[in-house]
Amino acid sequence: MKKHLNTLIILLSIFFNQITFTQEIKSTDEIISARVDSVIALMTLDEKIGQLNQLSFGIGWGPTVKSNVPDEYKELIREGKIGSFLNALGADFTRDLQKIAVTESRLKIPLIFGYDVIHGFKTIFPIPLAEAATWQPEMLEMSTHYQALEASSAGINWTFSPMVDIARDPRWGRIMEGSGEDPYLGSLMAAASVRGYQGNLSDKNIIACAKHYAGYGGAEGGRDYNTVDISERTLQDVYLPPFKSAVDAGVQTLMASFNEINGVPSSASKYLLTDVLRDEWGFKGFVVSDWNSIGELVIHGVAVDLKQAANIAINAGLDMDMESRAYITYLAALVKEGKVSEETVNESVKRVLRVKFLLGLFDDPFKYCNEEREKETILSKEVKDAALEVAKKSFVLLKNENNLLPLKKDYKKIAVIGPLANSTENPLGGWAAMGDSSDVISILAGLKNYVKGNTEILFSEGCKINDPSTIGFTDAINTANNSDIVILCLGEGNDMSGEACSRSTLDLPGVQEQLAKELFKTGKPIVVVLMNGRPLSINWLNENILAILETWFPGITAGEAIAQVLFGDYNPAGKLPVTFPRTVGQIPIYYNHKNSGRPGDLKNHYTSKYLDLPLTPLYPFGYGLSYTTFSYSNLSLNKNKITKNDKLQISVTVKNTGNYDGEEVVQLYIQDLVGSVTRPVKELKRFQKIFLKKGESKTVEFTLSEKDLRFTTADMKFASEPGTFKVYAGTNSVDVLESQFELVQD
Ligand code: GLC
Repeated sequence: MKKHLNTLIILLSIFFNQITFTQEIKSTDEIISARVDSVIALMTLDEKIGQLNQLSFGIGWGPTVKSNVPDEYKELIREGKIGSFLNALGADFTRDLQKIAVTESRLKIPLIFGYDVIHGFKTIFPIPLAEAATWQPEMLEMSTHYQALEASSAGINWTFSPMVDIARDPRWGRIMEGSGEDPYLGSLMAAASVRGYQGNLSDKNIIACAKHYAGYGGAEGGRDYNTVDISERTLQDVYLPPFKSAVDAGVQTLMASFNEINGVPSSASKYLLTDVLRDEWGFKGFVVSDWNSIGELVIHGVAVDLKQAANIAINAGLDMDMESRAYITYLAALVKEGKVSEETVNESVKRVLRVKFLLGLFDDPFKYCNEEREKETILSKEVKDAALEVAKKSFVLLKNENNLLPLKKDYKKIAVIGPLANSTENPLGGWAAMGDSSDVISILAGLKNYVKGNTEILFSEGCKINDPSTIGFTDAINTANNSDIVILCLGEGNDMSGEACSRSTLDLPGVQEQLAKELFKTGKPIVVVLMNGRPLSINWLNENILAILETWFPGITAGEAIAQVLFGDYNPAGKLPVTFPRTVGQIPIYYNHKNSGRPGDLKNHYTSKYLDLPLTPLYPFGYGLSYTTFSYSNLSLNKNKITKNDKLQISVTVKNTGNYDGEEVVQLYIQDLVGSVTRPVKELKRFQKIFLKKGESKTVEFTLSEKDLRFTTADMKFASEPGTFKVYAGTNSVDVLESQFELVQD
């Protein structure tokens, strides 16, 4: 009886709260915060702490999961001691868990279900680094929209994505998960992802989570989880902008990172979690820890035990505890001991409840639990078509000598060779969620489907991805000799990038380069198709192979997308979001570097360079070819002086000078020649992907203002400074036209 009375009280309080508000039109936020207040007023301290506790189902999706709900978890739900699960998947399974929460717990607060939908739920899209290579934020918005459509149909209402960590060290395995080395491109991609995932927060959307806050990509040595020691200015001007962009786009959660920054682990950083995120940026959502990152404060050596870790983290502003159980175990005692105020706990609980209200879970806890919709949505044609479009637009043409590509349609025999040729697991890439290799179209299958028997497709694996055996070489050489052209599919395994997958070299693994050299001796024309999760130092391929197509890890439509691009149905237009070093020894090498006092000059010994390498990378940031060619001319500015109230109109003429219609990403960079601190030699500030028919010209226009010239100055203010600026426009970060203007004091 008492339980039903309680329920009645809650329902009446929520109802009356709504009644009072219907008399005055209040903003959604004000209505939600009133409803949050009415719920939290009813909660015990233990129930409050329960909302900050997230545990994982270590098992995946499928009927087996139902029978595997540990009794402990059911009890925790009934006692209101858990607010969220991760890795609990499926409309039916999440409904079963939600039912316990909203019928058997005292306050019936719904659970929120999180999962790593990084580049797809079941229909796996290209890896995020590939999606960045489209240089089309709208592609990423479409991709995340469809990822959310699929995941939300399977009971998921929260994804731990987008990963917005700037990555300048390709040894770092998680470079595959983000948008590369540039803060401007990364910021646009971050905002696009948030818009795509969250949409209007209907039942076809999911809450996004910008991660890993912050600086995670700056790990020393590119070794995952390693120390990050960067200046405050680098943090502000390089690593934080994509997070700010995600917050400005309305992201509702962030994830604190594993790493320390300058001695303070992010999960213990009041500066990051409160001063910057709350006080400066006004973020209203909640922050979840990374997996046990609160517990790892003890290993970092900033907490003597898990209780102190809980104390530090909650007081720093870390709201939800993923898997360390620090909060559920120690927060109540810490409050009773006066080390943590209940008000601090309340703040975090309100942030979590607010997101649950925003998701509509209080109004309809089962809105994501529709099995019919799940069946219709998962792997639907609409979602797969979207994955195919993104894949084609993500490919980067690195080389195409003698216009070997697109492939002629009258080859009699095409040899498809290499360890990635017939693979259906590797195209999924890392963080492939519920992706299944049985849904993947391999390169071999894609080419066979494309030629439909008019051309004979021969296959030989040649070698493994990362194995010293050359036993397959003979068969591969014979296959090549028996063909008109070789499609050589090389790269990394999808388990060689992603979390905890840093590599000490950027070379092709195993004996793949040796295989390429042996096949080169046959004299057959060779097209290399690369599948990889990071830049690779493919110097020999670049010097000797006629055509090279970078396809990253393209997801389930791999072979279909690759066949359509190789045969020219789509003219590739991707551009590199990361620099490709010539060798691992060249790291760090990124385009927006500082000049130093002795910039590299091979003619001058006493300058910054290596004795055994050219100054330039293998491929620069923003690089990518097309089956056609483009020329740039007439870079012009409407003014040569601007004040902070002016707009600078910049135009450049681009002409399609080749034999194919095609797209081109026109890139605009600036250089601040003199500042109160040293400034990068280039900074990407605008880009536009345009379509030009062969022979067609177009004048592309960009607008800049003083706001685009701001940076963290000597006195740590975010401001512009008067002076001379170069403007560069071109097809990548190196091949550019140049002009300049002055920013003057008004
Ligand atoms: C992992 C990752 C994080 C992921 C989380 C949940 O350790 O660092 O990106 O979202 O745990 O799987």
